[in-house]
Amino acid sequence: MTVSADLLHHGDSDVVVGLVDLAVNVRSGGTPQWLLDRINQTDLSRYPDQRAALAAVASRHSRDIGEVLLTAGAAEAFVLLARALTPRKVAVIHPQFTEPEAALRAAGHPVHRVVLPFPFQLDPALVPEDADLVFLGNPTNPTSVAHARDAVTALIRPGRLVVVDEAFTDCLPGEPESLAAIDDLAGLIVIRSLTKSWALAGLRIGYLLAEATLVRRLATAQPLWPVSSPALTACVATAGAHALAEVDAWARRLAGQREVLCSALADVAGLRVVAPSCASFVLIQTDRPDLRMQLQRKGFAVRRGETFPGLDAGWIRVAVRDEIVSASFSAAIRMVLADG
Ligand SMILES: Cc1ncc(COP(=O)(O)O)c(C=O)c1O
Repeated sequence: MTVSADLLHHGDSDVVVGLVDLAVNVRSGGTPQWLLDRINQTDLSRYPDQRAALAAVASRHSRDIGEVLLTAGAAEAFVLLARALTPRKVAVIHPQFTEPEAALRAAGHPVHRVVLPFPFQLDPALVPEDADLVFLGNPTNPTSVAHARDAVTALIRPGRLVVVDEAFTDCLPGEPESLAAIDDLAGLIVIRSLTKSWALAGLRIGYLLAEATLVRRLATAQPLWPVSSPALTACVATAGAHALAEVDAWARRLAGQREVLCSALADVAGLRVVAPSCASFVLIQTDRPDLRMQLQRKGFAVRRGETFPGLDAGWIRVAVRDEIVSASFSAAIRMVLADG
């Protein structure tokens, strides 16, 4: 099955050298130095041994080791699920990150799109009753909406598997909507990534949490040594108490910066911001399909919206950065919209 170019478009393609990057949604400021130092100490002469990383991730989410499958980023988890599962009807809740649908289509699964209307809150009743595999993101890229845990668990049914991509869940201090530590994982797969909150996009490390039987089945679809030793080191390092406190502090700072950006944009005429925003980006709508290009002329690269099912060229996604960047960005967008 062919996969459209739109589904394969990602924010890094919207980055323009020399412009302020508001297109990519990975934590700004780079990987923390202490984490780089830990990763750099990894012994590369041996084959990867997952035991410590599995134990660290399991303990971080109060799970059994058998419920954890380490993957080369969330992206590998999507592909594994698409290749290993044999659903009768797959529903993908949009707008959301397009890679799950791309992986499903590439593996030959027809996809039923559930497109949430503005303001993009999850309504479980919109998902067809006969869907036996359902994908959603929480908080969702690109809407920045966090769905209540209860709305997500309301999707679970006998005979159905719900896959929730929590790549951005640690943007919310205390992860209130995360299902990673839910008592019973029956009917649920939780996908996590170290990419966003630790700025480790190049390392390729994430994991999924699922019932042990399912984890074992998915593991057989992985190649030998699917996760590199440096990535395993990062798993151990970011699961400890020190790291969890640091990510919590980062999420609190991010919340403050997001508040600054959203209030700077709140009174701009002709612009609508999806609220409440809960991740490291905000989604904006105007009636100006040329907005992204006009912003480039003012020095800002933003993520285009039209490649996300359910959005069009009037939408852009803007990364949350520091107060100074947000002030100059809101001044630029104000100018563009005022110029008409
Ligand atoms: C919602 C979401 N999930 C997953 C990913 C991919 O994560 P990873 O780098 O762990 O493959 C992205 C990347 O943009 C994303 O936006």
